[in-house]
Amino acid sequence: MKDKIEQVKKDFAEDTKAVNNLELLENLRIKFFSRNGIFAQLFEDFKVLPKEEKPLYGKVLNEEKNSAQNIFDELKIKIESNSKEEKDNTDLTLPGRSNKIGALHVLTQTLDEIKSIFKGLGFSIYTGPELESDENNFEMLNFPDDHPARDMQDTYFINDSFLLRTHTSPVQVRLMKSSKPPFRAIMPGRVYRNEAISAKSYCLFHQVEGLVIDTNVTFAELKGTLVYFAKQLFGEDVKYRFRASFFPFTEPSAEVDIWWQPQGKEGKWLEILGCGMVDPNVLTNLNIDPEKYIGYAFGMGIERMAMLKYGIDDIRLFFDNDKRFLNQFK
Ligand code: DAH
Repeated sequence: MKDKIEQVKKDFAEDTKAVNNLELLENLRIKFFSRNGIFAQLFEDFKVLPKEEKPLYGKVLNEEKNSAQNIFDELKIKIESNSKEEKDNTDLTLPGRSNKIGALHVLTQTLDEIKSIFKGLGFSIYTGPELESDENNFEMLNFPDDHPARDMQDTYFINDSFLLRTHTSPVQVRLMKSSKPPFRAIMPGRVYRNEAISAKSYCLFHQVEGLVIDTNVTFAELKGTLVYFAKQLFGEDVKYRFRASFFPFTEPSAEVDIWWQPQGKEGKWLEILGCGMVDPNVLTNLNIDPEKYIGYAFGMGIERMAMLKYGIDDIRLFFDNDKRFLNQFK
């Protein structure tokens, strides 16, 4: 019996050495610890020993089995954790992933450029709310009730007196209501129009308004300012023209067009902004003496500027937030 136990101890130690995966571990378990395994067999042999030998071998046999079991358990933990690491498959030699850095939206970039051009000319920046009164959006700007010019701007009305502003011109009104001339300010912001959505028009867009009021302002200064602006934004050799137009709040009024020549296509004149000398009615509405003060104003669409500057042909792209579009303006 003693030799048998010694032999099993040796065999177990020998077999253990080769076990390095879960399959071999299972084979080891079956060979030594299963119901018909080697240790079970030893206990069978033990049963038939003469009575006087039993106390001696019983103890040795139990000790051997327990120690083998401990070795087996430790081996099992080691092999299981190794095989988990293999599944993770982490390759520490791979280069790290870089963080994707965002960029300013192309409209923000365009607005920043417009702002910096006008700041250079001494304009300050003023803003107003998107929810406006009919009074500021229309009435004060010389659009009387039932005036057909109201139809030019498809309005989202909130109720009889309030609406989503259709242009940034009401911010002129706010400026004139809240402080005294002289003024030299631009007023950027979001505006809304209840129009059918297409490549050319969207239910919301952005404008920059301009207002200059002083005692000695001229139409020539208005022209000089806007020509300087167009050259800064579109390049020194931009071709432009002033075309007589109508707005209820300016008299005389004009629109500025630039010559647009996409590569391989026919060129054409495209309107970039509206402008004019502030109508004396507007000044009177806002308690500014039209005998003393004179002013000019202008308004432009930021989307329109960005579309011309970057050759974008669909206004909806600005609002889709498609990364393939946005990433082109980093
Ligand atoms: N508010 C006009 C529009 O949305 C644009 C405009 C034209 C603004 C002439 C002005 C201006 O200040 O003088 O169509």
